Amino acid sequence: MMRLSAPIKTAVVLAAAALAAVGAQGCGPTVSGGDANLPNGKKLFVSRCGACHVLGRAGSKGVTGPNLDGAFQQALADGFPRSTYEGVTHRQILYPDTKGAMPANLATGQDARDVAAYVAWAAARPGKDTGILDAIVPGLNQVVAVAKGGQLEIDADPSGQLKYLASAATASAGTLVLTSVNKASIPHNIALQGSGVNELGNIVQNGKTSMITVTVKPGKYTFFCSVPGHRLAGMQGTLTVK
Ligand code: HEC
Repeated sequence: MMRLSAPIKTAVVLAAAALAAVGAQGCGPTVSGGDANLPNGKKLFVSRCGACHVLGRAGSKGVTGPNLDGAFQQALADGFPRSTYEGVTHRQILYPDTKGAMPANLATGQDARDVAAYVAWAAARPGKDTGILDAIVPGLNQVVAVAKGGQLEIDADPSGQLKYLASAATASAGTLVLTSVNKASIPHNIALQGSGVNELGNIVQNGKTSMITVTVKPGKYTFFCSVPGHRLAGMQGTLTVK
């Protein structure tokens, strides 16, 4: 179960209102069967998809993947209903091309349906999100992890977002043991690159710990998750060694 912050909880409670608004705009049959939680879909899109895709209503500007407004604009012009795009997006989330840059399992079950419903609702829709949907903004993550006694812990986001709980870290020169607990079911590891270091930790999930031992000297390094697509999506940060 994902932990929800207070404003998001309110958003979930009020989701019915947003859905009523969607209903009023007339959707065809959907993979979500009309019971999607759009605020949840937007929140997940912003944190797990936005780093790679442009979607104006979500304020995302990623360019690794196709522009989702642009992709749907063409489909709309060709006369496809929004429900088609919901199905396309849902399939893409569950079965991305394994040779492409889009990671699998970014969202599953009802979460995947909620993201698909939000993308289909928002893509190429003029104007801005209002009300509950407007209240959902990406949380800024400026936490700095500090090494103690040659140990540095940089845990993965427990709710499965493609990020660590710290976006930067500091340590002293010498031997450094880097650990990263990953409570989520999406696999992650901890890896470190820079100044001659290039070390990848074991890939773990469901509460296991990824670990590497490195020797660092003063300078800047990058810590990141080496699971394909995760670093691109923003799962990285800078380690400064003094
Ligand atoms: C690491 C980058 C990355 C992330 C994160 C990512 N995508 Fe993608 N996405 C891509 C790339 C690259 C493609 C095109 C290649 C392919 O189909 O795999 C793509 C394709 C798509 C398409 C098909 C668009 C079209 O016009 O064919 C959709 C829809 C989509 N992504 C939605 C999502 C959603 C929803 C999420 C979050 C759950 C997401 N993406 C997360 C990189 C990403």
